[in-house]
Amino acid sequence: MTRPTEREVLEALRGVRDPELGMDIVSMGMIKELKVMDGDVSFTLELTTPACPYNSQIEQMARSVVERLPGVKSVSMKVTARVRRGWGGQPIPIEIPGIKNVVAVGSGKGGVGKTTIAANLAVALSETGASVGILDADVYGSSLTRFIRSYRFEAKGKGKLSPAEGPLGLKIMSMGLVVTDDTPIIWRGPLVGGAVRQMLLEVDWGELDYLVVDLPPGTGDAPLTLAQTIPITGAIIVTTPQQASLDIAIKALRMFQKLGVEILGIVENMSYYVCPGCGRREFIFGRGGGARSAEKIGVPLLAEIPLMPILRENSDEGVPIIVSQPASEAAESFRSLARRVAAALSVLAVKRGAH
Ligand SMILES: Nc1ncnc2c1ncn2[C@@H]1O[C@H](COP(=O)(O)OP(=O)(O)O)[C@@H](O)[C@H]1O
Ligand SMILES: [Mg+2]
Repeated sequence: MTRPTEREVLEALRGVRDPELGMDIVSMGMIKELKVMDGDVSFTLELTTPACPYNSQIEQMARSVVERLPGVKSVSMKVTARVRRGWGGQPIPIEIPGIKNVVAVGSGKGGVGKTTIAANLAVALSETGASVGILDADVYGSSLTRFIRSYRFEAKGKGKLSPAEGPLGLKIMSMGLVVTDDTPIIWRGPLVGGAVRQMLLEVDWGELDYLVVDLPPGTGDAPLTLAQTIPITGAIIVTTPQQASLDIAIKALRMFQKLGVEILGIVENMSYYVCPGCGRREFIFGRGGGARSAEKIGVPLLAEIPLMPILRENSDEGVPIIVSQPASEAAESFRSLARRVAAALSVLAVKRGAH
């Protein structure tokens, strides 16, 4: 009986496409360590992120096209995931060693849930098995420390600062951990830029697949400087459904785009209220505002996060909802957001030819 060659196996695998990118998995470099010995085929399928919603579909297709090849006796497929590096189009000369993707979370104004989204996105990404850090760069409204109050922060005497350890191995660094008293920090943009760069470069982050950065809100001096001084792979803009909030979110989004920052999409927070008695969704601030704005400016709407009192209570207590209420609607919406963000970053990395 004739046995297939390595080439024939690769040709068969070329028939499997990533549903999101439309590219075949061989061209994307996802097939590693292929060995064909007398009808026994073994290879590693290296997925672009552990969080891609199509992973299991790709796995199944890869296995079945090889199994269907005439002469194949057995298929041994190892599945791994390696997040690829991919920087944006900003004209920024620095790279941060060990950090593959920087996801910036911005908003048009404060109080819309930027920190809540950044923190829960980071936790949801960690939950997929990726290594994740979060940097609170909102020097004006630093509130991440509230979320991580219960976690230890340690500054080593010499060399690099160690980030705090959060739930699921999340690494956390915040201006609020450095500045401990209650006086508000009145800093101008360049100083903010300098401090945040320092936190990126002088904190011992180790190897990170994703670093989520909680930016200062608005289009002022501080966010503008940050968009010009830190390398951002992609940005997310958080808004609430009210028209005034949407208008100002779009203004912020345009600012990032002008500075060459790739926009991953919009997140609408406090989209609806879930009636605790009957489970009905009440769209108290109007329905579909985020979706309409996203469509108008041609960026994806990544998630609609419900308004849930438990979210506020959780962040006040310093425990993220994915940990305390893993089955809740809000936890699910953060997981879905994380999957979409990870997928968008994989797409970008492939488009930019990153390895
Ligand atoms: N979806 C939500 N449901 C309920 N409370 C929320 C939600 N999102 C945010 N909050 C609460 O609203 C307040 C402002 O959120 P925060 O994340 O600190 O906003 P920002 O970082 O934009 O200033 C906090 O008390 C937070 O717990
Ligand atoms: Mg905040």
